[in-house]
Amino acid sequence: MKMSVIGCGYLGAVHAASMAELGHEVIGIDVDAAKIASLSNGEAPFFEPGLPEILTSAIATGRLRFTTDLSQAKGAAVHFVAVGTPQRKDENAADLTYVDAAIDELIPYLSDGDLVVGKSTVPVGTAERLALKVTAGSGAQLAWNPEFLREGFAVKDTIYPDRLVYGLPSDDAAKASATATLNEVYATALANGTPLVMTDYATAELVKVAANAFLATKISFINAMAEIAEVTGADVTQLADAIGFDARIGRKFLGAGVGFGGGCLPKDIRAFTARAEELGRGESVAFLKEVDKINLRRRDRVVNLVVNALGGKPFEKKVAVLGLAFKPFSDDVRDSPALDVAVRLHGLGANVTATDPEAIPNSRRAHPQLSFADDLGDAVRDAEVVVLVTEWTEFRQLKPADLERFTSGRTVIDGRNALNPTEWRAAGWTYVGLGRP
Ligand code: UGA
Repeated sequence: MKMSVIGCGYLGAVHAASMAELGHEVIGIDVDAAKIASLSNGEAPFFEPGLPEILTSAIATGRLRFTTDLSQAKGAAVHFVAVGTPQRKDENAADLTYVDAAIDELIPYLSDGDLVVGKSTVPVGTAERLALKVTAGSGAQLAWNPEFLREGFAVKDTIYPDRLVYGLPSDDAAKASATATLNEVYATALANGTPLVMTDYATAELVKVAANAFLATKISFINAMAEIAEVTGADVTQLADAIGFDARIGRKFLGAGVGFGGGCLPKDIRAFTARAEELGRGESVAFLKEVDKINLRRRDRVVNLVVNALGGKPFEKKVAVLGLAFKPFSDDVRDSPALDVAVRLHGLGANVTATDPEAIPNSRRAHPQLSFADDLGDAVRDAEVVVLVTEWTEFRQLKPADLERFTSGRTVIDGRNALNPTEWRAAGWTYVGLGRP
């Protein structure tokens, strides 16, 4: 099937390559010429395991191409809109400029019977509004098909999704034809038995934000328990294990630490709150403001632990920050708790050196005032305090002997509860976790 993918960021680039890998003929379109040049060469413009391999193989088959020219969408039967919906500046609401622009600019190239498929995360009500534009300006229809991929596992999540959601037009004929088209797009996943939920626009839009709101709430719940554990001497990691054995609760997303970040969870809960308020139902999701506050307090907590470890005087003290990405297996530093901790310690006058296996270039672009080291030894050299804020495998596996050859102090603040406290204390280190004694 011929398809276009508009927007080649973390979502669109992976979607385009994965669709081509599945046998479709795909044109990926983006306004960023540098990104298109790199994708056309089979190079991923960001770190995503497995993406370079499928880019290279799909380009070699001739089924995958990239361009900055939107007119090349003409002739495709399906047009995925995968552009960003970032948080508006100084507001909680989502910025829909890119989604509206993509649809407006695409309309002249649509043919009768085409299907425009929204993938971006949008406030509920957006699809209905955009569908009016699409049907008024062309003979095409609109469907909303939210994406649940996780960065770091994006290729696997796209090729083997755990569920598919179709938000379909209300008109029966349009619904039947959109369903048939989407079934062809996702033929492989459907043949593998992937659960499918067919619904209306509003439900499809809400499924996406509800899923992210639930995940954010789960993380903030365990971080709230960490706050209680900190004043009672309890151990939040054991608490998470114990409640996680209850299959109704489950252990996933009960990792207490410096909290959630990234391009999705933080902005999605804020946009959801703003949209609910617009709809006169602000109280229904008022708890998400608390979820956000708990999450941000964890960053304060980590910064305070470092400052306390430095005797309350961080000025010119050497601190090593291990991790900058918002989570492992990603180079994404959007709203990253790790980068935030590094920036705030630097702001307090500490002499910070940060390291990360993948996220230094993005961090340097965002915060050129920080010092970075590619090599772990260089990052921790002469450090009085080491703070672990992204749980990359190489940091999880650190042993005290790996660091004490370089450091001047022996204090480790474990902002992800990723290390073994007994081992570090036995080696003479002061170990401080989050919500664990
Ligand atoms: C999230 C969702 O998990 C995806 O399903 C969704 O498709 C995506 O947003 C999106 O909206 O596009 P992602 O942002 O890649 O995916 O990252 P997650 O794996 O959800 O992690 C988010 C943050 O939560 C990270 O900072 C991570 O370190 C933190 N986290 C996660 C915790 O602090 N504790 C945990 O137990 C789990």
